[in-house]
Amino acid sequence: MNETTSKATLDFSDNTPAVDIPVYQGTIGPDVIDMRTLYNQSGKLSYDPGFMSTASCWSAISYIDGEKGELLYRGYPIEQLAVSCDYMDTCYLLLRGELPTAQEKAEFEKSIAENALVHEQMQFFFRGFRRDAHPMSVLVATVGALSSFYHDSLDINDPDHRDLVALRLLARMPTLVAMSYKYSIGQPFIYPRKDLYYTSNFMRMMFATPADDYPINDVLVRALDRILILHADHEQNASTTTVRLAGSSGANPFACISAGIACLWGPAHGGANEAALSMIRQIGSVSKVGEFVKNVKDPANQSRLMGFGHRVYKNIDPRATLMRETCHEVLNELGLNNDPLFKVALEIERVALEDDYFISRKLYPNVDFYSGIVQSALGIPSNFFTGIFALARTVGWIAQWKEMISDPEQRISRPRQLYIGQPRRDVPTRGK
Ligand code: SDX
Repeated sequence: MNETTSKATLDFSDNTPAVDIPVYQGTIGPDVIDMRTLYNQSGKLSYDPGFMSTASCWSAISYIDGEKGELLYRGYPIEQLAVSCDYMDTCYLLLRGELPTAQEKAEFEKSIAENALVHEQMQFFFRGFRRDAHPMSVLVATVGALSSFYHDSLDINDPDHRDLVALRLLARMPTLVAMSYKYSIGQPFIYPRKDLYYTSNFMRMMFATPADDYPINDVLVRALDRILILHADHEQNASTTTVRLAGSSGANPFACISAGIACLWGPAHGGANEAALSMIRQIGSVSKVGEFVKNVKDPANQSRLMGFGHRVYKNIDPRATLMRETCHEVLNELGLNNDPLFKVALEIERVALEDDYFISRKLYPNVDFYSGIVQSALGIPSNFFTGIFALARTVGWIAQWKEMISDPEQRISRPRQLYIGQPRRDVPTRGK
């Protein structure tokens, strides 16, 4: 981080001497108060469970302005990338910092296509699972297991190894997600092909069978490709923070990504798209939306409007707007524009955006609200929605992991606590 002259002074009401704390400015966005020396200077700790006001690192990869509803990937607005670029452009951008030239993109895609096959023995990991295992449990296991095949690229201090592991993870995630799906429905695995675009290849591995191939529909591929772009990175969200935390111990990158997948599984995070669609299905019709929303607002109820709200966006999530448009495109392409679920979703959005409970709490649709309807229309079962999210976010996790590991100041993340337990006490002498 660059030098700074600005500072904050912390005065204490007890006799702790005041401390001056440096304040750093980023390119854009909030300044940060550098708390790294607070404990050494004052013997006190900062307290911020849930990281409501904490920057856990510096980063140059993505940036969110929650008030404006803005998301930038390496400075480019998401709404421009989602229209003018594809997921491979986005992966190159997030990993290397610039959009690729045509030549660079061709080489990048070729190297990914050449790494899409997983070791043939990987198939035996699937056989230990029940067919109805949640796909995220399978992905946590199989991504972690990848490290057992690639001991030649686990020196995280070697930049070439970091690039190779990034390539291997990015290339193999679609294969593993598709294998998880095929295993769950008892169909044979479909191998990746080198001649297909990344997202087309994934859809073919998901939906082709040895008996009949999968006709590539460019509108549907474009829709899924846009879903991958919109979910690729998102600052220091819970799963990215998990990847960074695991990586700070020097754990191998496959294990770190596996930890990120585990965190993304939670319904408050990546599991919200699956929860949002089941909520929309539960409501079932436009006429029942009012009653459902009324229950959500009832303090006696602990229910939430899944797909609404965000820790950072206090305006609409720009990804939700793009996802709504994609919904229209896909449903029109498939002749489903009278889809009742989409009508229920539109009604939930209309009701919530007019209701003071949501307005006063700045609760707007987030990326997960519409993505379930799009994925369902594409033929993806709802228990795989979070797996698709993990597939999309793998590039962001890897880019963030690489950024952290290559930082010479990087050290193990080890927070402290506010201890509220018993003071020191002796074990009572025990009768024989
Ligand atoms: C993702 O971090 C990221 O960037 C994540 C993500 C990414 O790309 O990585 O953007 C992906 O995870 C999107 C979020 C998906 N989750 C959901 O859609 C689940 C539903 N949303 C919520 O659980 C919630 O909004 C969170 C978890 C997203 C944010 O929670 P916060 O910021 O901790 O907010 P909070 O729990 O402190 O709630 C503040 C108030 C409370 O009411 P009061 O106590 O003030 O009366 O808002 C209410 C909450 O009850 N509230 C909701 C609500 N979300 C918050 N009320 C009804 N429905 C909701 N969805």
